Amino acid sequence: MSEATLRKPLLETVRGKRQERPPIWIMRQAGRYLPEYRATRAKTSGFLDLCYTPELAAEVTLQPLRRFDLDAAILFSDILVIPDALGQTVRFVAGEGPQLDPIDPDSVDRLQPEGALDHLAPVLETLKRVKLALDPEKTLIGFCGAPWTVATYMIGGKGSTDQAAARLFAYRHPEAFARLMDVLVETSIRYLSAQIEAGADVVQLFESWALNLDEVAFERQVLEPNRRIVQGVRQRHPDAAIIGFPRGAAGLVGRYAREVGVNAVGLDYAMPVDFADRELPPTLTVQGNLDPLRVVVGGEQMLTRARTIIEAFSERPHVFNLGHGIVPETPIEHVEQLVNLVKNG
Ligand code: CP3
Repeated sequence: MSEATLRKPLLETVRGKRQERPPIWIMRQAGRYLPEYRATRAKTSGFLDLCYTPELAAEVTLQPLRRFDLDAAILFSDILVIPDALGQTVRFVAGEGPQLDPIDPDSVDRLQPEGALDHLAPVLETLKRVKLALDPEKTLIGFCGAPWTVATYMIGGKGSTDQAAARLFAYRHPEAFARLMDVLVETSIRYLSAQIEAGADVVQLFESWALNLDEVAFERQVLEPNRRIVQGVRQRHPDAAIIGFPRGAAGLVGRYAREVGVNAVGLDYAMPVDFADRELPPTLTVQGNLDPLRVVVGGEQMLTRARTIIEAFSERPHVFNLGHGIVPETPIEHVEQLVNLVKNG
């Protein structure tokens, strides 16, 4: 069957065609809340080894679809494979999150973009394997971290609540910062294009730290690099379906939607649904935006909020999702309840 005759409801929604019921996937749907993920993870020595072992990464990518009636699989990998591929030391320490040897203005020029795609070949192999195994009605989502979000980890060396190290770096060393953005933009364009060639139907840019920026910094650090990536990917793949997730964009979400050129905008859970519906172009696809902690608690408070979100976006194409990643302590039955509500009302 040719691509054109295959019906992939989630892909069609990202491309702007509203479905009767919103298709659904769950941010970070493969992960520690699933016992089968924990079992596979225990077979590998480190988290990055899991990301670079196509057989196991493909297996964990598919695990959530065996349990739940989801409309998409998302590649199992991480946004920090890019700094790793550029030669920066990246470690995942259990219970503490990622740790990187922070870069300084001088080390920007020592990053190695030439070999990056070779380093990421196993991730592309994972996509090919998942594509072969996936039900043709399901959409395959690839992704990378957006440059600013990846830079906050490269500069700060770890996650932080205010990204102060990266914000100071961007103000203090504008030229080194611009070179860093150039490396990340170019590498992301090549990486996402290769993901599409390996079978990704949709790619998502995770701009998880779009918060805490004034509007000038937002323009330079979020809008411009995201726009360059969208343009660069579309130069190679004019029909690329791209979701942008500018977490924390708040009042700047409309500018993100209008100026970056993505097909769909992912909304975080703090974004008021009526505000988003008024602020965003009426034909633009939105994705989101249930608070993941509502799924930890489950029951009526989860279902009522999910219904409100579906209702608020009932006049436009909408992909149902959480407004950030599902957390490890989430009970599986609550996910089942949520998926059932979204699919069956
Ligand atoms: O189903 C999926 O979505 C799996 C693929 C995936 C992972 N990370 C796996 C992962 C995706 C899409 C990501 C994206 C990611 N990684 C983001 C953007 C989304 C967001 O949450 O804002 C960010 C900021 C990261 C960086 C990262 N990776 C952090 C901060 C951490 C530690 C915190 C945590 O959630 O554990 C990781 C580790 C990580 N990435 C795990 C998984 C399943 C847990 C590690 C383990 O299993 O040992």
